[in-house]
Amino acid sequence: MLRSALLAASRSPQVRTMVEKFPPTHAIVERFVAGDRLDQGVTATETLVNSGRKVTLDHLGEDTKDAAQAAGTALAYEHLLTALKETGLAADAEVSVKLSAVGQFLPVDGEKIALENARRICQAAADAGTTVTLDMEDHTTTDSTLSIARELREDFPWLGVVLQAYLRRTEADCRDLAHEGSRVRICKGAYKEPESVAFQGKHDVDLAYVRALKVLMAGQGYPMVASHDPNMIKIAGQLAEWNRRDVTSFEYQMLFGIRPEEQLRLAEAGNTMRVYLPYGQEWYGYFMRRLAERPANLTFFLRAMATR
Ligand code: FDA
Repeated sequence: MLRSALLAASRSPQVRTMVEKFPPTHAIVERFVAGDRLDQGVTATETLVNSGRKVTLDHLGEDTKDAAQAAGTALAYEHLLTALKETGLAADAEVSVKLSAVGQFLPVDGEKIALENARRICQAAADAGTTVTLDMEDHTTTDSTLSIARELREDFPWLGVVLQAYLRRTEADCRDLAHEGSRVRICKGAYKEPESVAFQGKHDVDLAYVRALKVLMAGQGYPMVASHDPNMIKIAGQLAEWNRRDVTSFEYQMLFGIRPEEQLRLAEAGNTMRVYLPYGQEWYGYFMRRLAERPANLTFFLRAMATR
């Protein structure tokens, strides 16, 4: 119930205006977001890299309804990738992109515009010597995102995609994408989805996550295990061992601000541990999804609002 309400609120302009009005929310937001500006994103990247972790940066934004804003987001990524190259961080930091932030939802030629903007970002990543992973949004975008990814991969074969274990279709998508050179970030899924397309309860989602892991770990691609769940992390390690994968053939990923000690433990044990690091002014939707994942986060948030 609470999760559904928060996920519905994450797309409500009214709630957004209310939440963004409270300056103290920024202290809470800071736990999950590196800051408003590019230089804050770069500084946080440097700190993470110095601690032995890799990074994937997200210039926050989604559901763009304006072509100029979509082009502006692509430009922001180009600046980010130039900064990563100039600071020598590109070897350890890539970027994650939401296609809805670069035009996928525009009423006219949305997919075409998103493809072209994503192509610019991929080219900037190639010039910087790093990679891009396409985030996955709600299920209405899955086919479109995978089809844009397929086109981009013709020129940028290292392009990664995200699959969401809660979607009933995902085990089959994993099979399609478990080929050599294919980078797949497998996560549980963060959106409110109908039962017709997605498993609903935690137990069913966890079982689906394990099925997806089995396919990806047995395949020829590069699985990116995106979860904070101790059981999923343990099972991923066991599956890697059973499939005789060495530590360079897959990686663990977690969100900035969540289980940092576990991030360090995995990195210190010799694994590749990548942190998903968001920065930028459009933090609202991302932040609300983090609240929805864990009721305790909502308690901290409400307490901060009450004591402002
Ligand atoms: P689960 O939700 O079962 O949590 C397991 C444990 O992790 C909890 O008990 C708690 O200790 C901790 N935890 C989890 N979330 C927390 C939070 N918000 N605050 C504090 N503690 C928390 N989703 C999507 O739909 N599309 C996408 O593109 C991505 N991309 C993505 C990239 C990366 C690198 C990660 C790690 C995750 C995503 N996600 C995502 C989000 C993902 O789908 C999922 O919602 C969250 O990772 C939470 O699921 P867990 O697997 O962590 O398990």
